[in-house]
Amino acid sequence: SCIPLSCLCNLESSPMLYFEGYNFIQNRCKRYGTNIFQTRLFGQRVICISGEEAAKIFYDEKLFYRKGATPKFIQKTLFGQCGVQGLDGVSHKLRKVMFMSIMSPQNLETLDEITKKVWQNRIRRWERKERIILFDEASEMMCKIACQWAGIPLPKEEIKQRSKDLSQLVDAFGSVGIRHVQGRCARLRTESWIRDIIDQIRTYRLVPYKGSAADIISWHSNVNGELLSTQIAAVELINIIRPIVAIATYITFGALAMYQNPCCKNKLKNNDEYVTMFVQEVRRLYPFTPFVGARVKRRFVWNNYAFSKRTLVLLDIYGINHDSKIWRDPYKFEPERFRNWDNNPFTFVPQGGGDPSSGHRCAGEMVTIEIMKESIKYLGNNISYKVPAQNLKYSLMRMPTLPKSGFIIRKVKIEN
Ligand code: HEM
Repeated sequence: SCIPLSCLCNLESSPMLYFEGYNFIQNRCKRYGTNIFQTRLFGQRVICISGEEAAKIFYDEKLFYRKGATPKFIQKTLFGQCGVQGLDGVSHKLRKVMFMSIMSPQNLETLDEITKKVWQNRIRRWERKERIILFDEASEMMCKIACQWAGIPLPKEEIKQRSKDLSQLVDAFGSVGIRHVQGRCARLRTESWIRDIIDQIRTYRLVPYKGSAADIISWHSNVNGELLSTQIAAVELINIIRPIVAIATYITFGALAMYQNPCCKNKLKNNDEYVTMFVQEVRRLYPFTPFVGARVKRRFVWNNYAFSKRTLVLLDIYGINHDSKIWRDPYKFEPERFRNWDNNPFTFVPQGGGDPSSGHRCAGEMVTIEIMKESIKYLGNNISYKVPAQNLKYSLMRMPTLPKSGFIIRKVKIEN
């Protein structure tokens, strides 16, 4: 009942992962005509799975746990240590309730207002500039939005460094070289900054607005009724602001989609439903999260393959969003495919699958969609601009990836 040896059984394929990037799992699934194979990655035996049915078992908490599923080099950059991502059972539920309480309708409304204001101010500056790199601008804007929404003071002179650090945490993901080292330094700086904020809040030298992420996380108690340690509170508050800054990547891909599919641009005008579909299609088509990992809780058999206890299993996020069994013409940009979409939580998984309140699915999907919608509206309706010749290609071998030029625009004019 085990996996065929033909599937690279004991070859260490970590170098291939870096070589093939987002297509690593898909390439092998296609080669072997399967949705499951075994390999070696990060010095251990790993099972990779793909497809809707795979997503269903992956999010079954009776079968998988998260503790120790993320390699240390990713914890030390992207996630931080001892945060929500590695919790299980009751501890996870309690922490996740805390995260989801930050996403209240009222807070989402506040987020909308902040996002609009930050865009309004920025585009005025763009009019006076010869050219701008959208990704860099968006990262700074997202950093401003993230801090203001989360209740973290961000002095003007710090915006550049903080947004660069928060971007580097994400950029470190797929690298063991210089990007990893930059990510480690960025994490040390960011954690020290946010630990200080938590300290200030707990000694009432700083009072963030009620219900903000900084307020909720600083005063949250763990299962034993004690406040989180300053360090863990900092890791969790960074779990709010870091991914908001990461939305800059999707905004850049959104601008690319608009540029390469000019027919979409008209449809975006005064059509909220279309804007939503456009945003969903950007999240589906463009690469961001390649896969997510969990470990086997107890031995079980699926599709005639045995999963033994503690084995690391990777779910093919990028592959599921491009699975031709699920999506017609999966590599085509077609927002309309979301018009009658059935909301299946296991077929559209850019930010994980299943139920966000009980499982590990992203806590910030609504936040992502709201910020992207506002941003796409500004780019599509409120300004006009020229896109000069530049290298817009993005490599699927680099994780995370981005159009090479960062999307340069010129001659920005405010339309209305
Ligand atoms: C978890 C992607 C934005 C907060 C996740 C997961 C993915 C993901 C793939 C893991 C799912 C799993 O382990 O099964 C993304 C992408 C984003 C994004 C691509 C767009 C830039 C956000 C935002 C926030 C956020 C804006 C908060 C404001 C979280 C948290 C978790 C998480 C707290 C951990 C959930 C848990 O372990 O229970 N995200 N995310 N994310 N995300 Fe996001």
